Amino acid sequence: MKPSANFLLIVVCVLPNCAADFWEYFIGPRLSTGNGSERAAPKVTDQLVRSYGYRLDTHLVASQTGHILTLHRIPRGRKAAGTKPRPVAFIHHGLFGCSDMWLSRGPHLDLPYILADSGYDVWLFNTRGNVYSRKHKSLDPDRDAEYWNFGIEEMGYYDLPVTIDYILNITNQKDLFYLGHSIGSSTGFITCSLRPEYNSKIRLFMALGPLAHIRHPLNLLHKVLFSLLSPALSLVESMNIYEIWPRRFHISRLVEAACEDGSPFQKLCLMLIFSVVGEDPTQLNTTTFPNFVQYYPAGTSLKVVSNIVQYYVSGEFARFSGGKTVPFIYDLAKVTAPVALYYGPGDLLVTQEDVDYLSHRLGNVTGKFRIPYKHFNHLDFVLANNARSLLYNNLLSVMEKYK
Ligand SMILES: *[C@@H]1O[C@H](CO)[C@@H](O)[C@H](O)[C@H]1NC(C)=O
Ligand SMILES: *[C@@H]1O[C@H](CO)[C@@H](O)[C@H](O)[C@H]1NC(C)=O
Ligand SMILES: *[C@@H]1O[C@H](CO)[C@@H](O)[C@H](O)[C@H]1NC(C)=O
Ligand SMILES: *[C@@H]1O[C@H](CO)[C@@H](O)[C@H](O)[C@H]1NC(C)=O
Repeated sequence: MKPSANFLLIVVCVLPNCAADFWEYFIGPRLSTGNGSERAAPKVTDQLVRSYGYRLDTHLVASQTGHILTLHRIPRGRKAAGTKPRPVAFIHHGLFGCSDMWLSRGPHLDLPYILADSGYDVWLFNTRGNVYSRKHKSLDPDRDAEYWNFGIEEMGYYDLPVTIDYILNITNQKDLFYLGHSIGSSTGFITCSLRPEYNSKIRLFMALGPLAHIRHPLNLLHKVLFSLLSPALSLVESMNIYEIWPRRFHISRLVEAACEDGSPFQKLCLMLIFSVVGEDPTQLNTTTFPNFVQYYPAGTSLKVVSNIVQYYVSGEFARFSGGKTVPFIYDLAKVTAPVALYYGPGDLLVTQEDVDYLSHRLGNVTGKFRIPYKHFNHLDFVLANNARSLLYNNLLSVMEKYK
């Protein structure tokens, strides 16, 4: 069957459902109604990574709040043998992400494999509430709203410290390389600012398109988007939906069919994505991109999304306040771990202005890198065809100096 026919079939199949409950369908399940059966079984990271010839280990870490987090570890490269200690490279995904969004393209393209093959012990984080870390000691994410009561600060204050300690203990290292994409950097800054004893556990912090203070003027589309999101999120919450964009098979199929080569909706699909992250048609492989939606999005809490909206609307890197009080602004001078900043000239979400401002507030900036390609956007940190030559090789050589 032609892909477009395939897509039409899917639309026809799902229409009765989505008419029945648009929000639940496109945003996330309501508490207690969803029984989890429609959720796609996680595309097993194990199988994916092993299929490329690497070893993969899974570790569970319990946060102080009872949330149970899954860490994925690629302890060494394909050709490496033995158990000699290797420096740790810890990778923290961005909004709606998870570990395997970094792993689907294979050894020559994806950062974790490149790091592993260059001699690093690679650990991939999964933030609480995503497809791999949707567990708790006592709360049930399908039934308990309390499970979802967290924003970005909880991840930085509780989850990262316990994770860093866990990794350092297992690997017998005293510090690690931290690579954070987008809010994967925000959480690390929060950790280092609120719990300064963790600065010494980060040998080098590589901040890729780091989200913190927003200093660029929002374009019209983003202005509209963020101003619509606030009321939309309140509406969603009033319907008892607390989990946003979990990984779900029917949605992945729908988006995949819409975006694949030959689909009449591919242009629209790309236009929507580029309007959010920045337009860069040459670095996105439109043939393989649809496969990526099996891995992304992977779910987060409504409060995390509201938290990001607050960052953009207020412009400040501050504690989530729900608009009620004057928010507490994080003291970035307390981030004394050395930080290398990277930004994409074509990134619409985190721009040079934001990163310039950030570089003046952080306590210990060791470098600020403009990725040498004028269209490099927010998604390119993960998915650019030439990410290796444009960015990853630079990361490796900067890390080499700290080895
Ligand atoms: C979950 O929901 C599906 C579809 O609504 C239903 O067929 C299945 O029996 C339910 N499973 C449980 C354990 O309730
Ligand atoms: C450190 O790791 C060892 C095993 O390598 C384990 O027995 C011990 O409980 C760990 N300690 C902490 C504080 O996690
Ligand atoms: C896109 O991916 C396909 C399939 O892996 C590959 O054949 C093609 O060369 C890629 N295109 C670019 C520009 O990298
Ligand atoms: C900045 O980081 C370097 C490298 O770790 C360290 O030697 C130096 O003391 C740090 N500076 C501050 C002000 O903390």
